[in-house]
Amino acid sequence: MSVLTFSFPVVFHTPVLVGEVLSFLPDITDGWVVDATAGGGGHTREILRTGRKVLAIDQDVEAVNELKRQFGTELEKQQLKIAHGNFAHLLSIIKTNKVQSVAAVLFDLGLSTFQIKRSGRGFSFQSDEALDMRMNTEAAETAKDLLNRASQEELTGIFIRFGEERLAAQIAEKIVHARRQKALETTEELVQLVNGVYEEARVHSLMSPATKTFQALRISVNNELNALRNALPQAFDLLEPNGRLLVISFHSLEDRIVKQYFQSQVASGKARLVTKKPVVAGEAEVRSNRSSRSAKLRVLEKYEFQSSQVGS
Ligand SMILES: C[S@@+](CC[C@H](N)C(=O)[O-])C[C@H]1O[C@@H](n2cnc3c(N)ncnc32)[C@H](O)[C@@H]1O
Repeated sequence: MSVLTFSFPVVFHTPVLVGEVLSFLPDITDGWVVDATAGGGGHTREILRTGRKVLAIDQDVEAVNELKRQFGTELEKQQLKIAHGNFAHLLSIIKTNKVQSVAAVLFDLGLSTFQIKRSGRGFSFQSDEALDMRMNTEAAETAKDLLNRASQEELTGIFIRFGEERLAAQIAEKIVHARRQKALETTEELVQLVNGVYEEARVHSLMSPATKTFQALRISVNNELNALRNALPQAFDLLEPNGRLLVISFHSLEDRIVKQYFQSQVASGKARLVTKKPVVAGEAEVRSNRSSRSAKLRVLEKYEFQSSQVGS
């Protein structure tokens, strides 16, 4: 058995399921691969190595700057284009960048390691930072704005829908009470508040009590699920016949959207599932990169007789 080895630049992010992603790329070698969540460029780099052209998109300007820093040569040779934007607007990004034919679109959802550990934007409850949580720092509303603006009902809904948090109502109530004295500003203040709610309710959690609250806020601030819902049909329409959609998700809310969308395309006779079940990381990858443990890759292939929307 041959062993594939990959090399990645300094740890902006360690990409997951790289060998699997490469093995599922279609054989349409003259089309572009759209890396809709390029982050630190780990997947982009390996896709470029196969000789394919890549359009790398990210909504985080720091990721875009990192991509430009890493890939000067490929940009110059026009093997790579880099775009700052939200994949919710995929069609217009493709048109602006004059990409003529799309062989595959890859989504590797969620946050990069850089965003969690080094961006200073309050994505992690493990360091005390300002409550920002925007992937796109040009977006209007931060987590702090949301926490101090939203009604108790709205906050409860966010914690239920995006965090599946059982103490959603109590956490929302505590936030509204706390902000009457002083606006919530830091991750540490929020962590203490959520810990207090768990203690009062005598609920024990194996993970940190703040995990679900942080996930919910982040999803809400970045409108993540709607962006995904909007992007999938655009990505599918852009594909050439036999082109493929590859999506790596990290939690059940994302995976459900992907699974249902894929099933709807199969049911309407437009595509086939390449992966009957989601592909997950092997033991060795999980050991060397813990964030791969929750990754699920699903792949859909557009049928040959379906046309592409590029240029239409
Ligand atoms: C898990 S990281 C991707 C890592 C990348 N595959 C790599 O190899 O380094 C997810 C990236 O997607 C970006 N992202 C998330 N949602 C996005 C959206 N709606 N539009 C554009 N980029 C998005 C994030 O800013 C982040 O950089």
